[in-house]
Amino acid sequence: LLAWMDRLRQRGTVHHDASQQCWQVLGHPEASTVLAEHTIFSSDVGDLAPRSAEIELFQRGNFLRIDPPEHRRLRGLASRAFTPRTVTGLAPHIADITSELLDAIGDRGRIDLIDELAYPLPVIVIAELLGLPAGDRPMFRRWADLMFDRAATNPDEPLTRLAEANIRAVTPVVRDMNAYLLEHIRRARSHPGDDLTARLVQAEIDGQRLVDEEIVGFVGLLLLAGHITTTATLGNTVLTLDQHPWAAAEVRADADLLPAVIEESLRLRTPFPRLLRRTSRAAELGGSDIPAGSMVAVWLAAANRDERVFPDPDRFDPHRSPNPHLAFGHGIHFCLGAPLARLEARIALGLLLTRYRDIQVATDAPVEQRDPWTMVSLNKLPLDVR
Ligand code: HEM
Repeated sequence: LLAWMDRLRQRGTVHHDASQQCWQVLGHPEASTVLAEHTIFSSDVGDLAPRSAEIELFQRGNFLRIDPPEHRRLRGLASRAFTPRTVTGLAPHIADITSELLDAIGDRGRIDLIDELAYPLPVIVIAELLGLPAGDRPMFRRWADLMFDRAATNPDEPLTRLAEANIRAVTPVVRDMNAYLLEHIRRARSHPGDDLTARLVQAEIDGQRLVDEEIVGFVGLLLLAGHITTTATLGNTVLTLDQHPWAAAEVRADADLLPAVIEESLRLRTPFPRLLRRTSRAAELGGSDIPAGSMVAVWLAAANRDERVFPDPDRFDPHRSPNPHLAFGHGIHFCLGAPLARLEARIALGLLLTRYRDIQVATDAPVEQRDPWTMVSLNKLPLDVR
């Protein structure tokens, strides 16, 4: 992915790509402009390829892909649950879950970080927030794997072709997920608990309640976005520390450095490497004229290595200040879960480093990556711990 992005960058920080049939945006200021100018660069890219009925249903409440004013209405409903203050209140609980997961490992010297900590922790937290049984997490993981593992991605194919293949591949998964979530929502209507789903079914906006079909994609978005990205961040940060033992030693000596280590890992191993937008009218960007109706690929992973903003961009430097990386996006769709993701990462990594005085990536078992064009994340991270 990095070599491919370098080749793209040589063609200009903003340029038209005939093989992908889109505009590629690789610079930091240009990416920030696209994400900030949501009236020109729409998040609704649903017309990229014909959608199946299942995906149509899922998209109704998936506000990641919805423009204002509807976006504001839906995001507003969830935002109270994710303010830094509300999230900070979850810290003791996150620490308890982490400790339980670490206790379950016992004295074993070999662990898989993803299976035993990085995956279960965020999924338990988000499932509890949504009132979903955390015991169903093997199923959530299967859904996420089927949705985000596109090992066959060809970066040089037109985006429309990729979107068609993607819709074919994920439709059966989305069908299962919709059915499961609809049942959960109906249960929340008949037996309301004290979770976010229960609050959503009761919420009124302008005197109107949300219908079940709007809540499906809303809860589904939070369920998926709420765990796989944090899983990615935990794995990516541990791998980065293994590759930079001096940083691991520094953070062990000074735990206050951990947040900066996490941010720098997010910059260099950006979980969502690319976001998509569609121009709703003609726009000028970085000296290029982009016609109305164009697809625009915003490479967060490339913007995060823009040397105009990050001197010596490929170097891992947790002392970088400021570190205005775009791993959580920018503008009105800025990641709603960023405070939660950061808190989970700080607590989990802090406790992991306290629990073990020595952590090494195993040399006799493979580290498995997802297809990096879809997500920069690990499926397996075997560790030797003492
Ligand atoms: C949006 C990344 C964790 C929920 C986004 C976006 C990015 C992102 C790049 C913007 C997408 C766009 O503009 O098209 C990440 C990363 C995470 C993370 C890197 C972990 C390190 C979470 C968590 C949750 C969450 C833990 C939920 C609890 C959301 C939601 C949106 C979003 C709901 C849509 C916001 C909107 O459209 O207004 N995330 N995310 N994310 N994220 Fe995250």
